[in-house]
Amino acid sequence: MLYVTDFHSHLLPCMDDGSRSVEESLKMLAALGEQGVNRVVASPHFYANDESVEDFLARRSAAFESLKPSLVQSLPQVVLGAELRYYQGVSKLKGIEKLCIQGTPLLLLEMPQCPWSGYVQREIESLACTGNIRVLFAHVERCLPYQNAKTVERMTGEGVLMQMNAEAFSGFAQKRKAVSLLKRGLVQFIGSDCHNLADRAPNIKTATDVIEKKFGKAFLADLVSFGNSFFEE
Ligand SMILES: [Fe+2]
Repeated sequence: MLYVTDFHSHLLPCMDDGSRSVEESLKMLAALGEQGVNRVVASPHFYANDESVEDFLARRSAAFESLKPSLVQSLPQVVLGAELRYYQGVSKLKGIEKLCIQGTPLLLLEMPQCPWSGYVQREIESLACTGNIRVLFAHVERCLPYQNAKTVERMTGEGVLMQMNAEAFSGFAQKRKAVSLLKRGLVQFIGSDCHNLADRAPNIKTATDVIEKKFGKAFLADLVSFGNSFFEE
């Protein structure tokens, strides 16, 4: 049995445009559990224009506390994180390290869906140089198609890690692109990016089934255990 970590979700109740209630959060968690997920990173959106890191953390903690009494052992473990949207100056954000996925140096960063300028790339480099942060780009299937090979090489050269959404493995053309990103060794993390139980539902199996079919059991096991290793240090 594989114990999969879902690295991207919006399942904290009433925190962002994700789950609307404790009940919905519990159903989302149960659905992930049924798909072999035993750990879920709750990564609510963080927009620096809207609030400070401290205010966000206080809101996140309140949302988690409202869910906590219902978190029975049979449900996946919830680990707190954030999905930080890139903006010019993000590398100077005060308290940025507090947005890392709890217990890890991983900082889930949502990058612009356009070619990244030299400035953007330098800013990522300066974040990547910060000793206690490991940059992890969110749903790269959305932003990588806009980058040239040199930019991608520059980012991976800086040790930037990449997460892909499970939904990228659905649909013929889309699936081919997702498989190709994995084949190129660019992607190390999978997330459901689930927001609800309807149009953006927990769907990690969409990814794990395709990965197993295309690359084999051992490849999937390696991918999963690389992700899990960040929690075991
Ligand atoms: Fe997201």
